[in-house]
Amino acid sequence: MTRLLVVHHTPSPPTHALLEAVRDGTGADGIEGVEVVLRPALALTVPDVLDADGYLLGTPANFGYMSGALKHAFDTVYYPVLDATQGRPYGLWVHGNDDTAGAVRAVEKIVAGLGWERAQAPLEITGAPDREALDAAWELGAAMAAGLMET
Ligand SMILES: Cc1cc2nc3c(=O)[nH]c(=O)nc-3n(C[C@H](O)[C@H](O)[C@H](O)COP(=O)(O)O)c2cc1C
Repeated sequence: MTRLLVVHHTPSPPTHALLEAVRDGTGADGIEGVEVVLRPALALTVPDVLDADGYLLGTPANFGYMSGALKHAFDTVYYPVLDATQGRPYGLWVHGNDDTAGAVRAVEKIVAGLGWERAQAPLEITGAPDREALDAAWELGAAMAAGLMET
């Protein structure tokens, strides 16, 4: 069994809809042997990160950056997990009103420092998540979980 850790900041119904779509995708038909653990960014612990095989990060864009909650999560775990988690795969989704680029850049800088490997392109969603956005979130969850299936 491998474990996918979903670290998310979900402050509103639209962001919750995206989280649900991601989670549904991780349970797509044919995906087996992958345990999915959801952790609100504000509750993330070092063991959560050490005990996972891959990471899916979800955040709103706030002031051109990732949410303070996800930043807090990185501040909490960065050095304690730095040596042990190098090379593990990650995915990312960012939701914003109109500009998610700064948040994506900020997360990518930190995960590059951690040595995590980008497994999927970042998913950037602006405005109310429509069917297309929810489907993309589902696909992101499915692709990350599929990538962690043991061969
Ligand atoms: C303090 C604050 C700062 C924000 N900064 C940005 C921003 O820089 N770029 C952006 O696209 N959206 C920004 N937003 C919008 C949030 O990303 C958005 O509210 C969040 O993704 C939740 O979506 P919802 O408001 O549709 O529920 C900001 C929202 C708040 C409350």
